[in-house]
Amino acid sequence: MTVTPDGSAPTAHADITDKELVEIASILMKRRTFDLSVYKDACMKRRVAIRIRSTGCRDATEYCDLLRRNNHELDMLRKVLTIHVSQFFRNPSMFEKLRSRILPELFRTCSRNDSGVMRILCLGCAGGEEPYSLAILLREHFSAEMRSVPTSITGCDIDDETLRMARQADYTEDRIKEVPVVLRERYFRREGSRFQLVPELREAVSFHHGNVTSVAEHQPSDLVLCRNTLIYFTRSDQEKILHGIADILPENGIVVLGKSETLVGDVRRRFTSVCPVERIYCKVKPDSDRSNIWQTDYHPKSIKEE
Ligand SMILES: C[S@@+](CC[C@H](N)C(=O)[O-])C[C@H]1O[C@@H](n2cnc3c(N)ncnc32)[C@H](O)[C@@H]1O
Repeated sequence: MTVTPDGSAPTAHADITDKELVEIASILMKRRTFDLSVYKDACMKRRVAIRIRSTGCRDATEYCDLLRRNNHELDMLRKVLTIHVSQFFRNPSMFEKLRSRILPELFRTCSRNDSGVMRILCLGCAGGEEPYSLAILLREHFSAEMRSVPTSITGCDIDDETLRMARQADYTEDRIKEVPVVLRERYFRREGSRFQLVPELREAVSFHHGNVTSVAEHQPSDLVLCRNTLIYFTRSDQEKILHGIADILPENGIVVLGKSETLVGDVRRRFTSVCPVERIYCKVKPDSDRSNIWQTDYHPKSIKEE
């Protein structure tokens, strides 16, 4: 059977009309100040359909009635609408590219900056798997650099329950399956079927509630990861979010997107590609000669895919 990126059946939303989705959006905005309009309709309809089925409601009208009187269901829906799938070292080749190419240069650049620090921001950090993977990578390969360039890692997500789990840093085995055995033994303590990240690494990441649609509220960052999150937003909101990211990056700062995400619209003027395969871009001055410290990786196949 064909499945969509979020794992649901492609026609599951067919019976939810645009009007019904607007009604659900208005309930969510009024009762939870959650803005559904920034996400793709088809994706949201599929997620709503899952809740309609699980609650045994006959249709979207009955489900709207339930939402109006049941706070628990409102929270369940809110949770289902934001997808939290993640794992440590998701797309390992991207982490290898950060290790071999991006981080060495960023440390050099940051050591010459007035602030002398390096700030890393993970937007849509889910259960902390991505920022903690970066913390492991830095500890394994850049301890010397971090002594002269203090480095901060911040994870931000809109979902408080997910952030609570991120701070707890207690994972099932499927979340850490990409972690090499030697690193598992070094950085996780097994407790029954669960794996607890060691305190030194938990302390290396701070987590904040935040909405990617207001990235500008974050402090300037040298490296921003926004992977597997943009894909759920409408094209115009993707563009707004990317502008927000460009606003907090310095010139030559880096953004990493997910494998199925890319720069859209006018914001392309503000970035140039560093590694097309891994969707890594650096910020440039718009309308300039686009000069920057990075050289684009040459990879004919991936350039065609862009
Ligand atoms: C699929 S996960 C991606 C996790 C991680 N970046 C990765 O690639 O493995 C998407 C995350 O984006 C978060 N998210 C969705 N909408 C958001 C918003 N408006 N602001 C901040 N985070 C959001 C979700 O709560 C979820 O944790």
